[in-house]
Amino acid sequence: TEDSETAILTFLSASPETVIEDTYPWSQSSNLDHKTVVGAIKSLLADQYVVVENLETSFYAFTEEGQSILDNGSQEILVLKALNEAGKLSIPDLQAKVGKDVAKIGMGNCMKAKWIKKDGQDLVPVAKEDEVEDTVRKQLQGLSDADFKIDALSDQDAKDLKRRKCINLVTVKSHRVSRGPAYQPQRVKKAADLTKEMLDSGAWETAEFKPYNFLVLGEKVGGGFLHPLLKVRAEFRKILMEMGFQEMPTNKWVESSFWNFDSLFQPQSHPARDAHDTFFIKEPAQTVSVPEEYYERVRTMHEIGGAGSIGYRYDFRREEAMKNLLRTHTTAVSSQMLYKLANQPGGFKPARYFSIDRVFRNETMDATHLCEFHQVEGLVADYNLSLGDLIGTIETFFKKIGITQLRFKPAFNPYTEPSMEIFGYHPDLKKWTEIGNSGMFRPEMLQPMGLPENVRVIAWGLSLERPTMIKYRISNIRDLFGHKVEMARTQNAPICRFEDATSSA
Ligand code: PHE
Repeated sequence: TEDSETAILTFLSASPETVIEDTYPWSQSSNLDHKTVVGAIKSLLADQYVVVENLETSFYAFTEEGQSILDNGSQEILVLKALNEAGKLSIPDLQAKVGKDVAKIGMGNCMKAKWIKKDGQDLVPVAKEDEVEDTVRKQLQGLSDADFKIDALSDQDAKDLKRRKCINLVTVKSHRVSRGPAYQPQRVKKAADLTKEMLDSGAWETAEFKPYNFLVLGEKVGGGFLHPLLKVRAEFRKILMEMGFQEMPTNKWVESSFWNFDSLFQPQSHPARDAHDTFFIKEPAQTVSVPEEYYERVRTMHEIGGAGSIGYRYDFRREEAMKNLLRTHTTAVSSQMLYKLANQPGGFKPARYFSIDRVFRNETMDATHLCEFHQVEGLVADYNLSLGDLIGTIETFFKKIGITQLRFKPAFNPYTEPSMEIFGYHPDLKKWTEIGNSGMFRPEMLQPMGLPENVRVIAWGLSLERPTMIKYRISNIRDLFGHKVEMARTQNAPICRFEDATSSA
């Protein structure tokens, strides 16, 4: 670019009226690459060293075939030559001699011009190549002599040569260049930065500085990008912390059936405990230990009941309880936290816990289901809580993510009574969708843990994927999670903000 810049400025220095009429031929005669020259002109134009007019020139150019005809003659002449040399040739022999493509085109044209004829299986010449005219070659020669100018060919000739794929029309964008208001025969580089050297030498006094460009895009930030799920998780976490919830340690994916199911009063014959729904761990297949006294109380609750319940009345199997699995819900962690809460030094104290982490289910995968997803779970343990507290807490949480219209539908969970599915009205989607599950933990679950009798625990859970897909308008879960996710999608995902409807209410 610098060479081109110097060449342009030097050329224009001849006189104030000197112009480069057309940069395209000028570049060729100056032995410079036209693209580089155009680049240099744009840079000079920005600093008003030059003014330019845009030009557009069209001319013809030879294709490879056109060049070959100009060099060796047209296909029909090559065929005629070959036949005159041999006297006569079969088609395969002709093809072998001049090549298949040349034979095909040349034969056709020779027949049309009646330069050759058929003699049985053979072709024989009726004319000599020096008696006939190679029109195509003559046209191409003429075009080359006329510097490939558009008007060098008649419309008909141009059409014929294009149809024979000998020439192309080429359009070049170029410029007419003359001196600009800030023209100088030499480029004075404008300084981008004020340096220590400039201050030391005093050069800053005379230096010309580049103007600030406030419209330039910022440099792309390198490094990592948060996945949309993590962005939504960060928001949910913030909201729950604001509501006084403390995060539970969920950084352990393998659980025992005991914590995942039995402690939650989920019967050992429950269909969810089938390998069809749960991923059991092969190695190690069994958990190492469970709190034995508590285990005994859980077993008794399943077998004969207590706390006003008659239990499930079956034989509780230790082997079933000890099976390791990939946790199917984060409620496995909630039950451990409640057990700890009941048995901590100083005894039970009211608490609010939440977690947002991964769970696993042996599901048939489709557009909305994968074998792993994330659960948001919250619970409040306190004296004499009611269903009203649960509804109120859920309403507060959902309001903070902008969902104000909620409906609750009676449902069943083995570990909650009553249980309620949560439906939210989505103003964008204009429909009611299931957004979560909730309930009050059963006495059969809480009593064996050793929680005081009048302590109630309200809890709810939802998937992280559902609100993320709605927020980021993703309809297929495979576009959100898994090996088919596009990196660019993650990189370009906007930050996540939820409209807090509590502040305006
Ligand atoms: N564990 C339930 C699920 O996996 C969610 C839930 C949590 C329900 C707490 C009630 C109470 O769907």
